[in-house]
Amino acid sequence: MKKNVLTLVSILVIGSVALAACAGTTPVAITKTPATAYKYTDMIIGFIQVGSEGAWRSANSASFKETAVALGVRLKFYDSASPGNYQIAAFQQFINDPEVNVIVISPLEASGWEELLQEAKDTGKPVILSDRRIEVGNEDLYATFVGSDFVEEGRKAGAAMCKLLAGSQKKNVWELVGNVGSSAAKDRGQGFRETAEKCGIVVTNSQTANWNIIEGQQIIEVWLKESKDVQGIFAQNDEMGLGAIEALKKIGLVPAVDVKIISIDATSAAFQAMLNRDLNVTVECNPLLAPQVYEAALAALNGETLPKWIPTKENVFFMDDKNLEEIAAGRKY
Ligand code: AHR
Repeated sequence: MKKNVLTLVSILVIGSVALAACAGTTPVAITKTPATAYKYTDMIIGFIQVGSEGAWRSANSASFKETAVALGVRLKFYDSASPGNYQIAAFQQFINDPEVNVIVISPLEASGWEELLQEAKDTGKPVILSDRRIEVGNEDLYATFVGSDFVEEGRKAGAAMCKLLAGSQKKNVWELVGNVGSSAAKDRGQGFRETAEKCGIVVTNSQTANWNIIEGQQIIEVWLKESKDVQGIFAQNDEMGLGAIEALKKIGLVPAVDVKIISIDATSAAFQAMLNRDLNVTVECNPLLAPQVYEAALAALNGETLPKWIPTKENVFFMDDKNLEEIAAGRKY
């Protein structure tokens, strides 16, 4: 009985406050409490990784796993390590997974994602692109792309090769390409040609070595059997550059002297190669993307509109940089 009276009284009190507000006194704005914003600990990320093709990727995967622990984000990690179509199956799985509330992908292939992106949008799951871009007509299908400007990385490599070959009569350059169809491979090749061709560089050989050392060495060995008329090698990542170095050494050519070598990533192995004076330049491509990706994912989950690209900051490192040893010692990957 007592409880009912109390309830009745509290209804009357609330009602009278509300009524008083309506009875000619200054209206009190009844602010709605905002919908409870998600926190990092509410986020369950379905992350589809490219695979484990080298040091850059290992550092990138570690960044996602370590940062998830630090922020309290629950991470469901799918490591493709196989042809692109496995990524499609994983993406579909995360769309269907009722726990996953944000999907992050580093797409192996740049095309063929529209349908899945539309399905994710229809289920209300924001999609963040990490590291690799995609070719899609409607940019509303993803929240944002967090990653490097691969075209600019290519331009930096081309400008550095122009510097290295400035005194050279001939400027034949061979190119080792990443996995064909990836935005990294396409954009770096485009950027390199934009600047290299301005100083008379001619790309006389170009082939995919799929981001790895072994294929990089094999391809250069084959090309050297056909001709030694090469003044520079542009490898689209450090691993392929290290393979080229081995191929040159095998036939008695001095890497970084007889043939200038430029690669991309700025991994610890590239710094070691520069300290050994085997590599002239490495252009940085930052793999430590997770903090920016998780920040963007949380904002998207809370309904914020994001810029379509959140670029990462990157440098260029030269074999003759002062205090190169100190820089190398301070690197995280
Ligand atoms: O997408 C970034 C590229 O992917 C890195 O440059 C390369 O090492 C990796 O395979």
